[in-house]
Amino acid sequence: MPTSVQQQNRQRFDDIAAGWDESPRRRELAAGVAAAIAETLPLQAHWHALEYGCGTGLVGAALAPRLGRLLACDVSPGMLSVLAGKARAAGLDRLQTRVLDLTSEPPPAERFDLIFSSMTMHHIPDVAALLRTFHGMLAPGGWLALVDLDSEDGSFHGEGTPGVMHHGFDRNALQGALRAAGFAATGARTAHTVSKTAADGRVRHYPVFLITARA
Ligand SMILES: C[S@@+](CC[C@H](N)C(=O)[O-])C[C@H]1O[C@@H](n2cnc3c(N)ncnc32)[C@H](O)[C@@H]1O
Repeated sequence: MPTSVQQQNRQRFDDIAAGWDESPRRRELAAGVAAAIAETLPLQAHWHALEYGCGTGLVGAALAPRLGRLLACDVSPGMLSVLAGKARAAGLDRLQTRVLDLTSEPPPAERFDLIFSSMTMHHIPDVAALLRTFHGMLAPGGWLALVDLDSEDGSFHGEGTPGVMHHGFDRNALQGALRAAGFAATGARTAHTVSKTAADGRVRHYPVFLITARA
């Protein structure tokens, strides 16, 4: 039986979880993303938020002190276990972790004031379906913040990386998909630019967008 995209992602990220935070490039990206979200959205200390595809929580742990409660979700138990250890050590007791794959499981019953997701949408086969799911999970007027690569030529991950479903996104097309899913008032900005040596040895620059929308 072929391996599903979710199984590929779970396996790949479980395998690399322990060393994920060692990369300065990933830490810089996450710091840029957390700063961009905090600058763009009116974060409130009473908000109930969900991070989707939180990984080891490089973004979520930075934003958690600005929020009420944060439910940090990921398909990879290995990534979540790294985050849970860091949250315990930092005393982030309002941050909870949960294994969740919204492409194959129902959403949690509670409603959220904010859903944010960084560098995860490119792993999702049916983005339009997930946007509809996010819309249904938000309280009226709740915020969605999506961060991912602008359209690229596939060199960011390199050929053969399992579980990569999109070579970035066109901002206008994604904003159109958000409107089709029921969101309003979408805005877009560049959150960060990743500089990375591609498989061919050349250093390339990959802009990363932050798109925000309201339910
Ligand atoms: C590139 S990493 C980004 C992690 C983190 N957001 C960060 O910025 O460091 C992508 C994350 O998405 C998660 N992921 C992939 N597919 C997923 C799915 N269907 N549901 C939930 N998480 C998923 C992976 O396990 C991984 O932790």
